Amino acid sequence: MKKILFTLCLSATILSCKNANNTQDNNNSSDKVEQSTPIEVTENTESLTDSIQVKNIQVGGEDPNEKVKFHASYPSTLYDFINQAEEEFVQTYFDEFKENADRRGDDAVGGLDFGQHFQLVENSPEFITFLIERYTSYGNNYDTQFFTHIYDLKAQKQIQFSDLFASEEDFHQFVRLTQDKLTQTFKQRIEEMDGLTEQDKRTMWQNSKDMLLEGSAANDKNYHAFSWDQKGNLKVYFDKYQLASGNFGSFEVSFTPEEYSHLINPQYQGVFHVQPTAEEEITTPAVSDSYQPRPGDVDCGKEPCVALTFDDGPSVHTAKLLDILKENNVKATFFVLGKSAQVQKNTLRRTYQEGHQIGNHSWDHKDLKNLAKSSIEHQIHDTNDAVKDITGEAPHLMRPPYGSMNSTVKEVANMPIILWNLDPLDWKDRDAKTVADRMSKANKNGIVLAHDIHKTTVEAIPQVIKALKDKGYHLVTIDQLFAGQELKNGQKYSQRK
Ligand code: NI
Repeated sequence: MKKILFTLCLSATILSCKNANNTQDNNNSSDKVEQSTPIEVTENTESLTDSIQVKNIQVGGEDPNEKVKFHASYPSTLYDFINQAEEEFVQTYFDEFKENADRRGDDAVGGLDFGQHFQLVENSPEFITFLIERYTSYGNNYDTQFFTHIYDLKAQKQIQFSDLFASEEDFHQFVRLTQDKLTQTFKQRIEEMDGLTEQDKRTMWQNSKDMLLEGSAANDKNYHAFSWDQKGNLKVYFDKYQLASGNFGSFEVSFTPEEYSHLINPQYQGVFHVQPTAEEEITTPAVSDSYQPRPGDVDCGKEPCVALTFDDGPSVHTAKLLDILKENNVKATFFVLGKSAQVQKNTLRRTYQEGHQIGNHSWDHKDLKNLAKSSIEHQIHDTNDAVKDITGEAPHLMRPPYGSMNSTVKEVANMPIILWNLDPLDWKDRDAKTVADRMSKANKNGIVLAHDIHKTTVEAIPQVIKALKDKGYHLVTIDQLFAGQELKNGQKYSQRK
């Protein structure tokens, strides 16, 4: 790992870097000259596959009290055109971070936390596809954004969403279909709002309509996030604030292959697996050795146990965590987001197959107690459905985001609610040693909260496992922790009593 002091400059081909390095050549006075405040950037590289590496850059996070943090993982491949595009993409995010960091006074209250990680969706001789997730926080609540990057290896170019269609008219037809679906969803969300008269609802729709149509108009900027499954079902994601004010949240629209495949350019049909080959059709559910009490198993009623739980994933860091757990023969519980599970299926499948327990942590990390009942149903039921599609088994435990809930959430979940009795604040303090020291303080039959979206948390785990095993604890899943006790639906549990 090397440390350098400089204004982040990933590639000499990036214009802003040229300007920063050669200010004397810069005769356009309106161009922004980089601030002189040095930012300490840490860089390292890990292997993802034989031909793809993960590059990590990090600002802050060394000091546990650091309030300004930036962490980005991005791919590096054997193809220069891909590397250049990914570097430019991360540079734009860094510039946004830097601008906010510079503007922020020393007495600012809220933190600044920018993170990017990615998932390799496809790596075939024709295409490489990445799904990139960014979480951006100006306080302790964060918002996520997805970006789909498809690279055509033969044409040596990045494919934009509109390129996937057979003609411009086909793209426009897809957009009209999308807008019809969005209109329905939007009107339904207005319907569900409390305390509005019919007139209020009509006014709200009239006032919102233009923004909805503008945010979903036919251009690639609006269609930057989409995913598909083995059967060719397509989902398009729209960010919070893209189509409506923030209280409406984010939007997503689903399409069956019958609805859109005739619009796709024949040369890109393969991208969506619209004509699946036999080997792509995985119909058998994943086989798990998920916990069933067996004679000779540790009995947490008699022996000291601790349950490690990981929230908000799966992420690009989850695979490394699974390696660590496997090496140490430890089982844990993962409270996953439906939205992330759906786009990181291989990781979720592996988590399940390796005997870890999967719990429900909502679809996209909304504070559930602020939502209408039908939205809570979407958040919980769609997550269970997505996990079941991928692993063959639906979660039977729920952990609401922020531990926040009301009676409707409990009723809709209809599952035991699993909280925690130790919070190492790993989202706040991105320092492996600090996180490890805190997690190691777990008590007998306690539940430890952590987040597998943070690299530093994953790095803390070997020390945590060693410390807890040295104290004589068995590291178990939630089901195993409570084996022999009945967990009731809608009841909260934060340790085994
Ligand atoms: Ni969470």
